[in-house]
Amino acid sequence: SFGPNIFVESQWLLFKSAIDSHLHKTWSATSIINGKAIDEYEADGVAQKLDSQTVRAPWNHEVRAGEVTYANAAIARQAIDAAVAGQSTWQTVPASKRAEILRKTADLFEENYAELMALCQVEAGKTMQDSIDEIKEAVDFCRFYADEAERLDEVVYEFTDLAGKPSRQAYKPRGTFVCISPWNFPLAIYTGQIMAALAAGNTVVAKPAEQTSLIAHFGAQLMYQAGVPTEALQLVIGAGEVGGALTAADNIAGVIFTGSTQTAQRINQSLNDHAQTSGDLPVFIAETGGQNAMIVDSTALPEQVVKDAVLSAFGSAGQRCSACRILCVQEEMADDLIELLQGNMAELVVGNPLYAATDVGPVIDNDAKQGLEAHIERMSAEPTATILAQTPMSASSVVSQEQSTFVLPTAIEVKSIDVIAGEHFGPILHVLRYQARDLNKLIDAINGTGFGLTLGIHSRIENTAEHIERRAFVGNTYINRNQIGAVVNVQPFGGCGLSGTGPKAGGPHYVARLMQLSTDQSTT
Ligand code: NAD
Ligand code: ALA
Repeated sequence: SFGPNIFVESQWLLFKSAIDSHLHKTWSATSIINGKAIDEYEADGVAQKLDSQTVRAPWNHEVRAGEVTYANAAIARQAIDAAVAGQSTWQTVPASKRAEILRKTADLFEENYAELMALCQVEAGKTMQDSIDEIKEAVDFCRFYADEAERLDEVVYEFTDLAGKPSRQAYKPRGTFVCISPWNFPLAIYTGQIMAALAAGNTVVAKPAEQTSLIAHFGAQLMYQAGVPTEALQLVIGAGEVGGALTAADNIAGVIFTGSTQTAQRINQSLNDHAQTSGDLPVFIAETGGQNAMIVDSTALPEQVVKDAVLSAFGSAGQRCSACRILCVQEEMADDLIELLQGNMAELVVGNPLYAATDVGPVIDNDAKQGLEAHIERMSAEPTATILAQTPMSASSVVSQEQSTFVLPTAIEVKSIDVIAGEHFGPILHVLRYQARDLNKLIDAINGTGFGLTLGIHSRIENTAEHIERRAFVGNTYINRNQIGAVVNVQPFGGCGLSGTGPKAGGPHYVARLMQLSTDQSTT
């Protein structure tokens, strides 16, 4: 299991009863334009109701989480127009005031932790620990980007021409940003994108993932309550087509996207196509998928390796872009390590995320479950692959596997990286043996996937770790530890190649990228 419970008993009872008081609520989500909830649109002069749908908990489909009303392309256009119109006001709000609003958002997230946790558990199927981490990360983004708004406001570059006349260069807002986020960090990444853009003085149209609209809607309400002006933040609830309508709109200054590599490629194409007709050249920031490896040489500490690999592969049910997908083990220690891995996986508690002891909850939805199970099936039939371990559902779990979307944590030995074919976004770990003499070939094969997000290294030889780190093309390297859970302003996060464009979220270049450097010279 992932380790000791962090609560002392008395705190735990208070904490748990606060969350429980929200668990039986049903929430609702709509788009919000200029502060108004949108449940209808106009077609040929006649008001029409927008489609809505009931959302069910991924760990038990009998549990109703709420009702979501989905926007269409016409609503997306209205949201862009509203944000573009709001730009001139928001960009004149002083950086100190913007920072104050962001800090107030953080405070409100903390005050409303119980409801936010209940939402993360019910709508996204997150475990207790993952729900806590989700809120902490969202809060960290608010406070860090608030500091960044104030820091960048003070940055001025001064120049002098040959005649001694001064000029200066300073950061200014860019305009309206479309922020498109994934369901796997339904509060943290969603909030991080919005707060960074607002910190920069830009207005925002946010389109959260359709699977986690309830969390996003409640998060937006807290942002407005904290003082985010309704003209500065427009919320559009909807699926990919609505995201497509937003990124194809005129007059946007940029798109911040986190999600799969395929969707990023589609948006990139759409922005290029749009540029042909509109002449717009929006900034495009994409943080995308990974095919992340952990390389373990024979000097590594086996117990530590297995603990870190299991957390990195199966934590959050493997639904992290940073998750370890390929555990590469030097041949000399492979048999022992696999035995330890099987033992550790047998200890995992897979089941209802409302239970504090649960390590692995469900995957997000049926499509995800089917895709992951198809991969396991394909690997079972593959002559060069072997299933090493599969953790069953916990016996104490009350959920039915048919009425839920659990995928059993699975370890599969493979003979080559090629056979894995792409990112499998769930609790599946591949294990690959390598010979010490082939270390460079292994690193080249990892680089050859084209992804470059995280890399774990376990070795007690500093030179080896340094060599691997230098040769690998990745955004975040973790040595002798797990490879997930980057902390804002501690491990700025983001990849290269198919894994993203940068700049790194939670780092010193992120808000700056959302601003423009403006040079002024005055002759007076
Ligand atoms: P996804 O690409 O399916 O969806 C992400 C968002 O894009 C959603 O809001 C979706 O509605 C929207 N979208 C879909 N099609 C669109 C289109 N044509 N135009 C505009 N928007 C569109 O990804 P997902 O399944 O929500 O998230 C999982 C993926 O995200 C994984 O690949 C994971 O690795 C990646 N991810 C990356 C990071 C990172 O920081 N690098 C972090 C979290 C998740
Ligand atoms: N920041 C997240 C992690 O590192 C994606 O796991």
